[in-house]
Amino acid sequence: MKIEKIKKSNISKIDLNNFAFGSIFTDHMFVCSYKAGQWVNPEIKPYQSFSISPSASVFHYGQACFEGMKAFKDDNEKVWLFRPKENHQRIVKSSERLAMPAFPEELFMEALTLLIKIDKHWIKKGVGNSLYIRPFIFANQESIGATESTDYKFMIICAPANTYYTSNVRVKIEDSYSRASKGGVGFAKAAGNYAAQFYPTNLAKKEGFQQIIWTDSSNHEYIEEAGTMNLFFRINDTLLTAPTNDSILDGITRKSIIDLAKKEGLKTEIRPIKVSELISAAKSGDLKEIFGSGTAVVVLPIIGFGYKNTNYDLPIIENSWAILLKKKLNDIQYNISNDPFNWRHEV
Ligand code: COI
Repeated sequence: MKIEKIKKSNISKIDLNNFAFGSIFTDHMFVCSYKAGQWVNPEIKPYQSFSISPSASVFHYGQACFEGMKAFKDDNEKVWLFRPKENHQRIVKSSERLAMPAFPEELFMEALTLLIKIDKHWIKKGVGNSLYIRPFIFANQESIGATESTDYKFMIICAPANTYYTSNVRVKIEDSYSRASKGGVGFAKAAGNYAAQFYPTNLAKKEGFQQIIWTDSSNHEYIEEAGTMNLFFRINDTLLTAPTNDSILDGITRKSIIDLAKKEGLKTEIRPIKVSELISAAKSGDLKEIFGSGTAVVVLPIIGFGYKNTNYDLPIIENSWAILLKKKLNDIQYNISNDPFNWRHEV
């Protein structure tokens, strides 16, 4: 692989204690092109803008998908990825659904580890700090013919990360707009899945919520996910999460939380969850906690939700399962505890 390093790191120009998620990027990026049926010219080079034709099909038909993953630094300066091959498998699945070619696992892992090694001085130590890694693929053929592209670019960029939300989060259960439908692309990390959420989310923000809980597109009867995170509900002493399907992202943090909850002996049920069940549980006081899980948010306690113009507040409880599970997850990610699941991958 060709590697061109920057002459002097930009890190000294950045205040790593004060930045918004996803707003600053490390010194280098990975780029690889797909032409004539093959991935060619893999290279790591200084992070920079590049030129692209106005007819590149990504602009017209949105043929693009991405991944979100993180690297963590432990107290001994060792850097760890968390379940990176799962991200690779998922981007291959997303690519297949969007008629894009699979990026090879070996090259994915090589590019990832080389890039992180080169930029590892951007990763701050301490729980909460990490490097957010954004692999993505987009259609690059100069054509507005409405078919899949023949040319693609696969890239990886990296952004230092700390807390995704700095204030308490309330969510709105959506009963009008939909994120995904049966047989659609909701399970994929398709770029357009995110764009389609911005408008209804802005409406929800005006009502004082930070995110939307999406419900099934047929009847808005069942809970799905929240767009940047999967969802967990604690009703009395049972942890509930919806089964993944073609309209819910198969979150890697989600499945890790399920495994950790089971290991902690928490009663965990993966089953369809009706909005009406949540409302009854909130009214009776049986709904103890809601939290989201995702790479960017990690585990995010939710303090309340709105549904059909009524707001429901969650009780402040001792022994929060969200806090417990977040700690267990962080302990593995930051090499604080042992790793019984073999999730850590040393860079
Ligand atoms: C992630 O958690 O990696 C996501 O994909 C959410 C992102 C859109 C911020």
